[in-house]
Amino acid sequence: MTPDVRPLVAGNWKMNGTRASLDQIKAIAQGVRTPLSEKVEALICPPATLLYVATALATDSPLAIGAQDCHQTQSGAHTGDVSAEMIADCYGTYVIVGHSERRINHAETDHLVRAKAQAAYQADITAIICVGETADERDAYQTLDILKRQLSGSLPDEATAENTVIAYEPVWAIGTGLTPTAQDVEIVHAFIRDELVLRFGKEGRGMRILYGGSVKPSNASELLAVDNVDGALIGGASLKATDFLAIYGAYETLLA
Ligand code: 13P
Repeated sequence: MTPDVRPLVAGNWKMNGTRASLDQIKAIAQGVRTPLSEKVEALICPPATLLYVATALATDSPLAIGAQDCHQTQSGAHTGDVSAEMIADCYGTYVIVGHSERRINHAETDHLVRAKAQAAYQADITAIICVGETADERDAYQTLDILKRQLSGSLPDEATAENTVIAYEPVWAIGTGLTPTAQDVEIVHAFIRDELVLRFGKEGRGMRILYGGSVKPSNASELLAVDNVDGALIGGASLKATDFLAIYGAYETLLA
């Protein structure tokens, strides 16, 4: 946690979820309607096909709804892409950019990720910019070098504590059940904080840094208690309302 920073617990549904899954969104929207929501923000990023219905379901709830990617331009001849403007038009308030699955499967570069974050700002949406090393990079002790490069290349100069969230997701921890130790997470998040403060000053102090990669109800309390961990970006465990709410609820004790 970081003093005076409101944590964010975010779910990334990836390419999972049909209309039948909207019941889970309904349950999450209902479940976060608690006094805790004044202190901790909750967000679900369903696939684009469910975005509009999901925001309608979350209307009277503190639950925010976001998207998983956006194109770097507002509109045009880009078959299959979705713009930040379209996400905002569906009442989405966040967009994930630069997830490792997009960096790897779609060859997205830091430069492109930065342009996507700028497109999000243009549409008044908060960008969740993902960074993280692969297993090979970690084994070669390159983690901090990789993060430095990704942060400097992927974050626009206009990034503020308001319009930007950083998600540290070690690629080797995604969907594997493996997580770094709390100690390792602490070192990496402190490094990211230093980089942010060095470049953005006071704004960098307030930017939220999420941890992502195999976050479950069983390890949430330990990971979320770490210094400079300002929430989580959750894949698999966000698909089930009970698991997502259990992770969110870990803050009841942490903030007590
Ligand atoms: P898992 O929680 O399934 O490991 O996924 C993490 C992730 O990639 C979230 O963006």
